[in-house]
Formats: sequence, C-alpha cells, structure tokens
Amino acid sequence: MVRLSNEDILFFKQEGYLIKRKVLNPDLMARARDRLWEGAPPSIDRYAPETWAGPIKKEEECEDTMNRKAGFRWNFREPGGEDWMMRLLATDPNVWGMAEQFLGEGNLQMPDRIRGIYCTLPYGDEPEKPTTCHVDGHPFHLGVVGYIDHVPPRGGGFTVWPKSHRKFYYEFHSQYKHERTEEYDETLALVNQMPYVECHGGPGDIVFWHHRIGHAAGQNFSKQIRQAVLYDFRKKDLEQMQEEPPCEDMWRDWPGIQALNDDD
Ligand SMILES: [Fe+2]
Repeated sequence: MVRLSNEDILFFKQEGYLIKRKVLNPDLMARARDRLWEGAPPSIDRYAPETWAGPIKKEEECEDTMNRKAGFRWNFREPGGEDWMMRLLATDPNVWGMAEQFLGEGNLQMPDRIRGIYCTLPYGDEPEKPTTCHVDGHPFHLGVVGYIDHVPPRGGGFTVWPKSHRKFYYEFHSQYKHERTEEYDETLALVNQMPYVECHGGPGDIVFWHHRIGHAAGQNFSKQIRQAVLYDFRKKDLEQMQEEPPCEDMWRDWPGIQALNDDD
C-alpha cells in the first residue's frame, strides 16, 4: 500500500505538487499503452519509432475532442470512460487512498471518467520555445497525472511552477470557478519569471497537483511519445462551495492538510 507521509503532505502544501513513484498497476498500464494505438493517426506506427515525431500531418489532424490530434498533441479521450481506465488512475486503491488523505475519507466524488491518455509527440527538429504556465479554470480540487511509460528529462513531463498555487489561488473571484481577478495577468507574468520543475519519471509514477498551480505540458525533446493519464479529483460538496470567494485559509477544504497542525 502506498500512502502519504506527513513530509509528503507538507511538501504538497508548500510546493503545490507531489511526485510518488511506481504507484500504478503494471497490467492496466500495459492495457492503456495498447489501447492508445487504436486511436493512432495512420502514419504513426507503434513499431516504427522513426514515425513518432510530430507535428501531426495536416491531413491527419482531428478536431474530434474524443481523439484530438494537432501539432504535437494527441489527446485520446475516448477510453477515459472505460471502467478499467478509471481503475488505472482515479480509483486505483493507492491513488484514491492518497487523494483521501488530502481531502478526507469519504469526501471524494466517484468518477464517471478520467480525462484520457494525453500524448506529446517528440519535437524532432522543432526549436525549443519558452515554457510558460497557465492555470486551469474548471472546478476541481486535486489533479493527478500518471505516466504509463518512461518520461525522460526534457521528454514532455508535466511541468509545474512550485509555490505558485499560493499566489494563483487568490487571483480568481471564486474558490473553484474560472473568473480571474484583474491582477491575474500581473501574477502570471511574475510566476513565469520563477523557476519551474519538469516532472520526469517512469511508468507508474504519478504527480499530484493543486488545482490552482501554474503548470504546462512540457516540450518533448526525447525520442519517445510522452504518454500520460489525467484525472481531476472533486469533493462531493464542490457544487455548493465552488462560487464562494477564496478563503483566507486556502486549505479550509483540505482536512489532510489541516491535520498537519503546522503554522506555515
Ligand atoms: Fe492545464
């Protein structure tokens, strides 16, 4: 059983994210890697790595949100509602157990789907661009990204701006919805000057992240396709709470962090 230590919870509180290694079920990861190829663009061949580099060919771009393909992104959402995909990530006993450590036992909504398998194709000869962050505006509490294959350094890992959750949390008019304050852009510019952390890792590694942390999909200068599964944990009372203004104590809704009893 994988669980969070107090140090883990404190790290998350301070930094806004947390990596846990080798958590996901290997059989379900293998199934996800197989399932992914059912949605592949015709010219990308699983067994010919030289075909993997992006961008997606113009004629193979796809606007269908269930299997969106454009540029270097391939977001295969179609299997996200399949029972085994939910067991791979959201309801995996270890992932779920740790999410409950943050948000309280019995408090989480049951998923009806996970986001799906999000891929970043290798950039090939594409020049590097500055890495800049954004904040998600849809209502949820705790994000989790899981890697179902190797994600080497500079291989498109989920990228976070540590501690930015403490700034961005107050740059929205409500706790969980998307309306930004007038100061948001200023804060964004400030955060973009701060150092970021690119979370690289291996199959089964997961990254928990606070819903208001600045983040980005990393650019992929590796030779492999960055394959990640994503889910957003929501508490059962999210609908009642989402319109409330940000609280003075930004951890009010996080029993696991309240229980730390630290004064930071
Ligand atoms: Fe995002």
